[in-house]
Amino acid sequence: MRVLHVAAECHPLVKTGGLADVVGALPQAIAELGADVRLLLPGLPQIADALQEREDLYTLGPLFGAGRITLCRGLVPSQSVPLYMIDAPYLYRRRGGPYQDQDGTEWSDNLQRFALLGWIAAHVAAGELDPTWAADVVHAHDWHAGLACAYLKAQPGTRAKTVFTVHNLAFQGLFPAAEFGALGLPREMLQSQALEYHGKLSFLKAGLAYADRITTVSPTYATEIATHEFGCGMDGVIRHRGADVFGILNGVDPSVWNPQTDAHLPAHFSARSPAGKKRCKQALQSEMGLAEEPDAPLFALVSRLTHQKGVDLLLAALPALLERGAQFAVLGAGDPGLEELLSGASRARPKRMAVRIGYDEALAHRLIAGSDAVLVPSRFEPCGLTQLYGLRYGTLPVVRKTGGLADTVVDAVDSAAADVGTGFVFDGAAGPELEAAVLRAMRFYREPERWRSLMRRAMAQDFSWHEAARRTLTLYDALLGVPREALAPHKPSPALA
Ligand code: ADP
Ligand code: GLC
Repeated sequence: MRVLHVAAECHPLVKTGGLADVVGALPQAIAELGADVRLLLPGLPQIADALQEREDLYTLGPLFGAGRITLCRGLVPSQSVPLYMIDAPYLYRRRGGPYQDQDGTEWSDNLQRFALLGWIAAHVAAGELDPTWAADVVHAHDWHAGLACAYLKAQPGTRAKTVFTVHNLAFQGLFPAAEFGALGLPREMLQSQALEYHGKLSFLKAGLAYADRITTVSPTYATEIATHEFGCGMDGVIRHRGADVFGILNGVDPSVWNPQTDAHLPAHFSARSPAGKKRCKQALQSEMGLAEEPDAPLFALVSRLTHQKGVDLLLAALPALLERGAQFAVLGAGDPGLEELLSGASRARPKRMAVRIGYDEALAHRLIAGSDAVLVPSRFEPCGLTQLYGLRYGTLPVVRKTGGLADTVVDAVDSAAADVGTGFVFDGAAGPELEAAVLRAMRFYREPERWRSLMRRAMAQDFSWHEAARRTLTLYDALLGVPREALAPHKPSPALA
């Protein structure tokens, strides 16, 4: 089975959030199960610079205002699956992020940039750009890759089936409907059952309308997005797709997040040998300028600072929690108002509340490792990865009961003995609810044996990519009608071996 994954970011090359972690891990995990998997990414500077053994396969004339476009194939360190990269310097080689410039403004030509990604995906899948390979399944991630599903649908005689994964329904890839003509798609695709969305066009809707199957990144979020509350205006479309929508939980990549080997940590640890965690905590308190109190409960937040992530809930609960002796270590970037409120709180109580504004992969690891608990008070959370990393590092998650958070953290109820629970779960998106959950965590923390038992249970949880890959492959099988045994073991293609 030949599978083409299509995405805009991939850890460790380009990352703005959990999407990159997934794209960096899931295709490899599926390849390990025997499928011939390849990844298609835009030629952003970090990707183009990392590409090794580059082979130019096809040069195209001007498309989407791109000038010269070359499809190439190669390998990147840290990825075992071969990579197709679209080298289109005019659209992709620029300083800034994958979606925004250095000031945080969306690139004005995102329509062209991601239309090209979808167009190339469809033509690679059809075997037109690499004469040695075509896809049986195209697996497109988020709105950036959504148009792949529309181009494939519009291509007569296409064999490839499509799977579209929604990592976050709030990001919809909206553009003026007047620009539809630039996409080169049939006119009927601008209907309300297709790309049209309240007078605009939506790349997300292209995936939702035309993919053969839709997945999202947790079972609970798969149910939530069919409701008005979580549907971000797309719930009608989701309901219409009915049984075509599946929730498959994300996993953790142990080559990146493993407290026994993590190169970013000052000391290593495991459930059996936890001493290194204390050293990580002490080093973190020192690095962040917090009071070096080994017994102060230390809560981490590693997050985009946005409304979704419930940062305002933390701000509301902070005064009471600081008063009760909690410490906080925050790493994040996003909404300037939230950044300033967090920084202000830190200036007022620097020994108890430390804040770093920015994106820092290594510090994220040190925060998850060195803290006692990690906060994820999201209003909605398709899956969430920081709570999974917390579980693995014995850093107990304090989470809101929504999406993937509800699927991955079991509440340690006050009344029970220490034989249930892996963290602390609260219901309402309100400061007092978060405050109560953190206070509950602090009560457990003051009973070291109870806390250690929770940590051991948390660290024993298995959120492996193997399971997600197995479920995804089952979905591909069902789409193609392939009996499982027919899959050949994975071998790198001779051209790349
Ligand atoms: P989302 O994708 O919605 O942002 P996830 O929990 O799925 O949320 O994934 C977030 C990923 O980004 C995690 O790997 C987390 O460690 C990382 N991350 C978030 N903010 C930062 C930051 N400021 N610096 C470094 N890593 C961050
Ligand atoms: C999105 C979601 C997050 C999820 C990630 C990876 O960014 O917000 O919940 O974990 O994608 O699937």
